[in-house]
Amino acid sequence: MSVALKRIALSSPWIDERDEELVLEVLRSGRLSLGPTGPRFEQLLADATGARHCATVSSGTAGLHLCMRLAGVGPGDEVITSPYSFVASANCAMYEGATPVFADIDPRTYNLDPAAVEAAVTERTKAIVAVDIYGYPCELDELRAICDRQGLAFVEDACEALGATYKGRPLGSHGHPATFAFYPNKQITTGEGGAVTTDSEEEFELLVSLRNQGRLETSSWLQHGRFGFNYRLDDISAALGIGQLEKLDRILAGRSEAAARYGELLAGIEVEAPLADDADHVRSWFVYVVKLPAGVDRDGLIHRMGEEGIDCAPYLPSIHLQSYMREQFGFSEGMFPVSEDASARTMAIPFHARLAREDQERVVETLRAALQ
Ligand SMILES: Cc1ncc(COP(=O)(O)O)c(C=O)c1O
Repeated sequence: MSVALKRIALSSPWIDERDEELVLEVLRSGRLSLGPTGPRFEQLLADATGARHCATVSSGTAGLHLCMRLAGVGPGDEVITSPYSFVASANCAMYEGATPVFADIDPRTYNLDPAAVEAAVTERTKAIVAVDIYGYPCELDELRAICDRQGLAFVEDACEALGATYKGRPLGSHGHPATFAFYPNKQITTGEGGAVTTDSEEEFELLVSLRNQGRLETSSWLQHGRFGFNYRLDDISAALGIGQLEKLDRILAGRSEAAARYGELLAGIEVEAPLADDADHVRSWFVYVVKLPAGVDRDGLIHRMGEEGIDCAPYLPSIHLQSYMREQFGFSEGMFPVSEDASARTMAIPFHARLAREDQERVVETLRAALQ
């Protein structure tokens, strides 16, 4: 008689009794939004990232949208970003009527190639959205130098990278606006949620107003000094965020240990493991993505892994090849070959902070057998 094997999920949030206690406290307080818990979470996030200011928002996507407002992006502008990312990195420009322009990636890091970015700049370029894909810091200094030379705004999509460091300093502490996200597969979760960090007091005040329906500090509840949004994070979510930040070090350590175990287990299997850290780039592990040899039927492999109870996913499709992007902007295959090759061959395998060694062994053994 065959015994049904336990399903190994792609990701899993770390929720414990402390999180429950903090959420319950807010529920019992009756102050579910615009209470004292939101600012407490923001202060802890600012401390964790080394940012001067931190504004929470209702999602990473909302944070990126507000960053487009900070950058003054509008109709007719172009915004350069990575095709090898989650769609929100490009959609944020479209929300403001701007055109997303892609630049190809570095095949080692999967992050924007600064030379390709420089080549993509035109007189209509307004901003660059640089992504730290899979938690690996992008080339911040080189990309910012391009912005400085060309008079462009610089926005960092650090949605996957809370806890990563670039040249010894945490992402979020480098001055420019950086957006983080807290969907349940992220390093920390608030259910839905996100945050924008910045060193600029002026940008922080604008973020706080824009997320709160354009209210000004001096406005009463029904007075709106500017056109804004409801992108607030509620206090229930913020309470969960506080519980998550209290164990951030343990979460990040658990993820690093799981990644190191995969590194060992995958040796000898014909897949390319994620790039190792170096002195300037220290990754915060988000997902664990392997690159398959050319010619492997990746989608078939994902299906076979699924049949064995192991969830894998095709991380990440190239944004320019999504149907709405092709229809609206005429993008097609062959435009960003490095990104397209990565998209055809990369695959996320189960990964989270408390993934057991025996589950990882099963993932790797199943992968080895499926590849043969
Ligand atoms: C690179 C990147 N940018 C933006 C986002 C959007 O974040 P959210 O899902 O919180 O809106 C995500 C989340 O999946 C992401 O991975």
